[in-house]
Amino acid sequence: MRVFVAGGTGVLGRRLVPQLVARGHQVTATTTSAAKLGALTRLGANGVVMDGLDAVSVGEAVAAARPDAIAHQMTAISPAHAGKPDLKHPDRWFATTNRLRTEGTDHLLAAAAEATGVSHVVAQGYASWNGIREGGWVKTEEDPLDTLEGTAAHKGLKALGHVEDVVLKAGGAVLRYGAFYGPGAIDDQVQLLRKRQYPLVGRATGYSSWVHLDDAASATVLALEQKATGVFNVVDDEPAPASEWLPYLAACAGAKRPMRVPVWLARLLAGEQAVVMMTEGRGFSNAKARRELGWEPRYPSWRQGFKEELA
Ligand SMILES: NC(=O)c1ccc[n+]([C@@H]2O[C@H](COP(=O)([O-])OP(=O)(O)OC[C@H]3O[C@@H](n4cnc5c(N)ncnc54)[C@H](OP(=O)(O)O)[C@@H]3O)[C@@H](O)[C@H]2O)c1
Repeated sequence: MRVFVAGGTGVLGRRLVPQLVARGHQVTATTTSAAKLGALTRLGANGVVMDGLDAVSVGEAVAAARPDAIAHQMTAISPAHAGKPDLKHPDRWFATTNRLRTEGTDHLLAAAAEATGVSHVVAQGYASWNGIREGGWVKTEEDPLDTLEGTAAHKGLKALGHVEDVVLKAGGAVLRYGAFYGPGAIDDQVQLLRKRQYPLVGRATGYSSWVHLDDAASATVLALEQKATGVFNVVDDEPAPASEWLPYLAACAGAKRPMRVPVWLARLLAGEQAVVMMTEGRGFSNAKARRELGWEPRYPSWRQGFKEELA
């Protein structure tokens, strides 16, 4: 297939492009920076400069590539695009990402509809700690996602809802990836742990789901090849409370055990999203992706993955 990867230079794009090339697909991959075109060539792709927020730029790039399928992996979370991470104000930190997930998704779908031959879109969603905060600790695709109404996280979680609405309407698939780890994905979190600035909050009973970048990439390849439709949780087999995964990650990183702070202090310092994630978060099941895509993660648990990544 001819596959168009919008956002080929991000942490996931850099793992996805080589997997697609290895499977014999012809890949066009995008960056906003001409300086990164060489890196895309080295991954085996035809690199193009594209601004996902500019309908004309998107239309031209997609038309020139004449893809059979499009993978939407555009976010703007890195300091280069978003400045310093601001967990307390996710609406500010994710402002451009939210636009890429609303306007950017619309531009890609419009370009796909214009270009003859594009049949299928697979887009990036999110399923780490954001399952609805009622009932069990592990959620399926049937359960609603939480949108943290009334908090600074709401806009971003609503933008993810937009991706799902429009991509599903267009007959595509949204892969709700767990929290990424793997090359370059959690360097900032590991640094905070080593400085003992990443504490447990309250009893830290909130669940999260993780996924290794290579497993997120392999699920994406399967969804593209199978022209999958619908939403899929792309997470490992072991959703777990912060009280388990955070001290384990610290140990793998050679850091001291994380400190513990009370909820009121965490709310003051890090905001509502961090408190919800650590105290009430709901993780996710990957049964549907395993069953319907035939996906088999190489890293079924973060226990093995963190250890290998940080060895
Ligand atoms: N599920 C998750 O846990 C999850 C999901 C996504 C990201 N993250 C985390 O977020 C951090 C940053 O991610 P990242 O390294 O992938 O970087 P990023 O800054 O989020 O960029 C991702 C991709 O989007 C592209 N992009 C940015 N702005 C764009 C625009 N206006 N138009 C078109 N494309 C645009 C980037 O291209 P250029 O930079 O080349 O221009 C890059 O290819 C990492 O720590 C990662 O682990 C986590």
